[in-house]
Amino acid sequence: MHCRKSRLLRLFTLIGIAVLFTIILVYLTHHVDHTGITQRRIGLTVFQSTNKTEDHLNFGENRLWIHTRPYQYLMNIEKVCAKSNVRDLFLIVLVLSRPDGFKRRHLVRTTWGSPKTVNGTEIRTVYILGGSNNTNTQQKLQEEQAQYGDLVQIDFRDSYDNLTVKTVMGLRWASTFCPRAKFVMKTDDDMFVNYMLLVQYLKDLTPQDQELLYAGSINGNLHPVRVAEYVSEKKWVVPVEEYPDEDYPPYCSGGAYVLSGRAAKSIYETSKTTPFFRMEDVFVGICANKTRIYPTDYIGFSSSWFAYSDCRFRFLITAHDSSVKNFIKNVWKRVNSERKPKKCPTKELLIEWYDYDDDYILYNVRQWENASYYYDYTL
Ligand SMILES: *[C@@H]1O[C@H](CO)[C@@H](O)[C@H](O)[C@H]1NC(C)=O
Ligand SMILES: *[C@@H]1O[C@H](CO)[C@@H](O)[C@H](O)[C@H]1NC(C)=O
Ligand SMILES: *[C@@H]1O[C@H](CO)[C@@H](O)[C@H](O)[C@H]1NC(C)=O
Ligand SMILES: *[C@@H]1O[C@H](CO)[C@@H](O)[C@H](O)[C@H]1NC(C)=O
Ligand SMILES: *[C@@H]1O[C@H](CO)[C@@H](O)[C@H](O)[C@H]1NC(C)=O
Ligand SMILES: *[C@@H]1O[C@H](CO)[C@@H](O)[C@H](O)[C@H]1NC(C)=O
Repeated sequence: MHCRKSRLLRLFTLIGIAVLFTIILVYLTHHVDHTGITQRRIGLTVFQSTNKTEDHLNFGENRLWIHTRPYQYLMNIEKVCAKSNVRDLFLIVLVLSRPDGFKRRHLVRTTWGSPKTVNGTEIRTVYILGGSNNTNTQQKLQEEQAQYGDLVQIDFRDSYDNLTVKTVMGLRWASTFCPRAKFVMKTDDDMFVNYMLLVQYLKDLTPQDQELLYAGSINGNLHPVRVAEYVSEKKWVVPVEEYPDEDYPPYCSGGAYVLSGRAAKSIYETSKTTPFFRMEDVFVGICANKTRIYPTDYIGFSSSWFAYSDCRFRFLITAHDSSVKNFIKNVWKRVNSERKPKKCPTKELLIEWYDYDDDYILYNVRQWENASYYYDYTL
C-alpha cells in the first residue's frame, strides 16, 4: 500500500513536470514566432505567414492572412478586356456588389456605369461579388450573367467583414484578365461616378503622376478607434490584437479610388505578405505604403453624400448615393443635360456646404424638374 502510494505520487510528479515542461516549450516556440515563421489555424485552413521582418508597420503575430487558399472563380469573364483592343483599354472599373444586389447593379448599368467609351476612350465596368449560399440567388445571378456578362464571383463568404478579400480579389482579377489596362478604379454599387470627369482627370495627369497612381480622397493622420464612445462607433472599434500600430498610414477613402494598372498589380502582390485587416481602404493603404506608393488627393473624389447642385456635380467625380428618392437616376440625367450653371462658388465651398439647399441646391425630387431659377444664380 505504502509503496504503491509513493510510486503513484512519483508518477504524478513526473506527469506534472512533463506538463510544465511542455507549457514552457510552447511558450518559447511562441516567442520564436515573433521573428520567424508563424503557423496558425483559422477555421479549417492552416496557413503560413511569410517573412515579416521588413514590415515597418509593426504587426502582431496573431493576425489573419488573406491568401490562405487558392480562391476560385464561381463566375468569370475572361474576355471582357480582350474584346476591346487590350492595348486601348484605358480604364477598368471594379464595382463591389453583393450577390443579392440586383437592383443596385441594374441602376448602375442603366446610369453612370453604362458608357463604354468617353470620347473614344475605352472603359469597362465589372461587378465583383462573393459567394452566395442561396440557390435562388445563384440561379438569378446565372441569368444576369447570361444577359450582361459583367459579373465576377469569387468563392468566399460575402460579408461586410470580408470586403478586403473582395477588393483584393478584384485587383487580382484586373491584374490577371486586364493586365494592360492603364487604370483600375475600385468603387461600390451605392456610389455615383462620372466617367467623363474621371477620364478627363486621369488624362490631365503627367505621365509621371500616372505611373504609380493611387488617387482618391485621402484620409491622413487617422488612428484606430480603441474604445467606442457611442454605440454607433462599436462597428469601428479595432482592438490592439487586430491592429497593433497607433496610426493608419495615409489611405484613399474606400468609396472610390483609382490605381494605375501597375499600382494595382503591385498592391495585389503586396497583399500576399500583408496581414489581413477588415477595413478594405485601410488595407489597400497599408499595401500601398509598403510598396512606397504615395496616395494622391483630389477634391473631386468623395465617398460622402451631397445634396445635388449643378455646380457641385460639375467637378465631383464620385459621390455617395443619398436617401433622396431616385438620386442617382436624377444626377445622371442632370450631368448629361446641356444646360450649365452660369457661375459657381469655389469647389472648397461647395464641399463644405454639403447639405445646404439655399443656393441652387435641391433635396426634393419634385423640384428636380423645376429648377430653372438657379441657372441664373450668381454669387
Ligand atoms: C527575412 O528577410 C530578411 C531581409 O530580407 C532576411 O535577411 C532573412 O533571412 C529573412 N528571414 C527568413 C526567415 O526568411
Ligand atoms: C447563408 O449565409 C448566411 C450568411 O452569409 C448565414 O447567415 C446563413 O445561415 C446561411 N444559410 C445557409 C442555409 O447556410
Ligand atoms: C470570409 O470568407 C471566408 C471564406 O469563405 C469565410 O471562411 C469567413 O467566415 C468569412 N468571414 C466573415 C467575417 O464573413
Ligand atoms: C470630350 O470631348 C469634348 C468635346 O470635344 C471635350 O469638351 C471634353 O473635354 C472631352 N472630354 C474628355 C474626357 O476627353
Ligand atoms: C507611409 O506611412 C507613414 C505613416 O504611417 C507616412 O509617414 C509615409 O509618408 C507613408 N508613405 C507612403 C509612401 O505613403
Ligand atoms: C415650379 O415652379 C413654379 C414657377 O416658379 C412654381 O409655381 C411651382 O410651385 C414650382 N413647383 C415645385 C414643385 O417646386
